[in-house]
Amino acid sequence: MKVIWNDEIVERSEVKIDMEDRGYQFADGIYDVVRAYNGKFFTLNEHVDRLFSSAEKIELRLPFTKEKLKEMLSELIKINNIDTGNVYMQVTRGIGIPRNHPYPDPEEVSPVFTATTTIVARDQEKMDRGMSALIVPDLRWLRCDIKSISLLGNIMAKHEAHKKGADEAILHREGIVTECSSSNVWMIKNDTIYTHPDGNLVLPGITKLVLLRVAQNAGLSVKEEAFTLEDLKKSDEVFASSTTMEAMPITSIDGNPVGTGQRGPVVKKLQQLYVDAVE
Ligand code: PDD
Repeated sequence: MKVIWNDEIVERSEVKIDMEDRGYQFADGIYDVVRAYNGKFFTLNEHVDRLFSSAEKIELRLPFTKEKLKEMLSELIKINNIDTGNVYMQVTRGIGIPRNHPYPDPEEVSPVFTATTTIVARDQEKMDRGMSALIVPDLRWLRCDIKSISLLGNIMAKHEAHKKGADEAILHREGIVTECSSSNVWMIKNDTIYTHPDGNLVLPGITKLVLLRVAQNAGLSVKEEAFTLEDLKKSDEVFASSTTMEAMPITSIDGNPVGTGQRGPVVKKLQQLYVDAVE
């Protein structure tokens, strides 16, 4: 598998990252994950726009245009023969010597861009069966809208969930559900679908954007409105959404079944609408 390293497509073993790269020292960088189906990217423009928006929020000057980035990514999936799979891309601010907290003058640093691919098929069996979740306090920072490579808060929550045998962590701030450790979270009560509005407490998910659109077009009742842990416990259905999981039912929370304990009809419908949007 080849990778992108700055503006070149090379073997992974050829990549050299400096130990004083600010991504390595400060997690001073951003990333995004985009998926391809049948050899073609899905929502590539939205992912590229979000990468540029994350960069702008941390005053990181990207060393390419959106068009150039899309060209490089398309070239990579072609070379790696990616039919259905994910592309992970990240940009760090570059080398800053000596180590010093303030952003260096953009004229004096060169951001480092890398991108890798993985072949991953849709996990239909899991999407039918659903997954389990654990409720964990949201201990992350207050700029969760930036897709920062600083993910300690997220991975600590996911690790906590995994230690207790759950697949995903549902995060809350003082009883208000925000999102999951690597996905947005939704609940359904009396046929209305709820998810936390965009803002600084959640990542503006691209899958969320697609699901909101297809749900509205299908005439479903959707509200971008925060809900509490109490609401979650009384909900009929819960699911998580992300580029890699699409709409994934959460059928048990803290060991208790959600609704019937099986994938519900609304999430099943959303899964189908999403597949239709992809095809
Ligand atoms: N995760 N919230 C968080 C905290 C995320 O990390 C992600 C994505 C999402 C969903 O965003 P999207 O629908 O655009 O994928 C929400 C990616 C896939 C990851 O970190 O691997």
